[in-house]
Amino acid sequence: MKDRIKIVTIGGGSSYTPELIEGFIKRKEELPIKEIWLVDIEEGREKLEIVGDLAKRMVKEAGLDWEVHLTLDRRKALKDADFVSTQFRVGLLDARIKDERIPLSHGILGQETNGAGGMFKAFRTIPVILDIVEDMKELCPQAWLINFTNPAGMITEAVLNYGKYEKVVGLCNVPIGHIIGESEMLGKSKEELFFHFGGLNHFHWHRVYDRDGNELTEKVMDIMFSDKDEKVVENIHNIPFLEEQIRDLKMLPCAYHRYYYLQEDMLKEGIESYKENKTRAEVVKEVEASLFELYKNPNLKEKPEELSKRGGAHYSDAACEMISSIYNDKRNIMEVNTKNRGALPDLPYDSVVEVSSVITSHGPMPINFGKLTSAPRGHIQIMKAMEELTIEAAVTGNYGKALQAFTLNPLVPGGNIAKELLDEMLIAHKDYLPQFKDVIETL
Ligand code: G6P
Repeated sequence: MKDRIKIVTIGGGSSYTPELIEGFIKRKEELPIKEIWLVDIEEGREKLEIVGDLAKRMVKEAGLDWEVHLTLDRRKALKDADFVSTQFRVGLLDARIKDERIPLSHGILGQETNGAGGMFKAFRTIPVILDIVEDMKELCPQAWLINFTNPAGMITEAVLNYGKYEKVVGLCNVPIGHIIGESEMLGKSKEELFFHFGGLNHFHWHRVYDRDGNELTEKVMDIMFSDKDEKVVENIHNIPFLEEQIRDLKMLPCAYHRYYYLQEDMLKEGIESYKENKTRAEVVKEVEASLFELYKNPNLKEKPEELSKRGGAHYSDAACEMISSIYNDKRNIMEVNTKNRGALPDLPYDSVVEVSSVITSHGPMPINFGKLTSAPRGHIQIMKAMEELTIEAAVTGNYGKALQAFTLNPLVPGGNIAKELLDEMLIAHKDYLPQFKDVIETL
């Protein structure tokens, strides 16, 4: 590894960027940064300039000599990069609003990364990430791609299996949220505990142990079911899980399992927010607007507290820590989206799974999570097949594959309603779906 490194962030104009910069500053002793390049597209120019200036002020305030570059020229930024992180949203928040509102208008769950919304986010994003990977092969073939762009699991699988780019890790903040929340619930520091995660992005389970080798999973359940105010990520409505089901599962679900285990309850809540024009995407649009107003203040030189209203809080603890762990060959344990390699034997060897892994300079080494019992096994195999079809449809623009993926998704009802929803969403997102152009013209 080089003595001083170049980090490139695609989607650098994101409102989350101050969190990322704060994470790098926290790690200034272990991460010898030379350059940070924040890259965006023309539509994101204004945001890039505002948040980029704040990033520059933060670095200056920390007394660091790091160069912070803002650019719309992705290829220039990628040249000789060591780490590339991705946090972009194709179609911006307006596309997310459609992903959430269109399904809800049919009485079907609409969510950023789950159900029809998540599949369309994959359709829009996968061609773009594959393009970025082609640039990386040419301009920085040694670089690690640290992907945060959602749906993080499917995007990572597309990069590995279609982009044929091996140096990729997909990240999410949800496991960190569970680790922080459950350590607090148990009154212990996270260092005193071992969290073992396995599953798919936004569809994983975990078990908890202490340093004496005792399993504390049931103890967490005891607290979880006695305290209905269990803390979940900001973006998910907190409806309590069904106790007998979770007890029998013998693993802790992730916050997103609510969409599956409590589908009707979550749908009801979604429809309410749809009627009030307060879907999560609409709320986030308002939060973002006020965040950018704050960022404009030339006296602001740190990450503002208001950013914690976003569901992705703590994501820098994943992204910056991952970069440092690879750079320093830390061999610490983190939760990542990576090639399965048998860690979850119920899923294909080459699938991307989200699993606790040892992070080395040659990437994550997944820790075996083991075979699943009937319920999680059946569920996850359906989800993985749905992901595979979604990725294939995103790459090829094959309508039949897209409809198969829709039919398989547990949040989309089968039949003509699935087809109507698919067609409506294809038309609504047509500007960002070049691979489906021919199909869309016939609709
Ligand atoms: C979670 C997920 C992220 C997601 C975010 C949405 O924490 O892990 O994948 O992007 O929430 O948060 P938002 O504030 O945009 O609704």
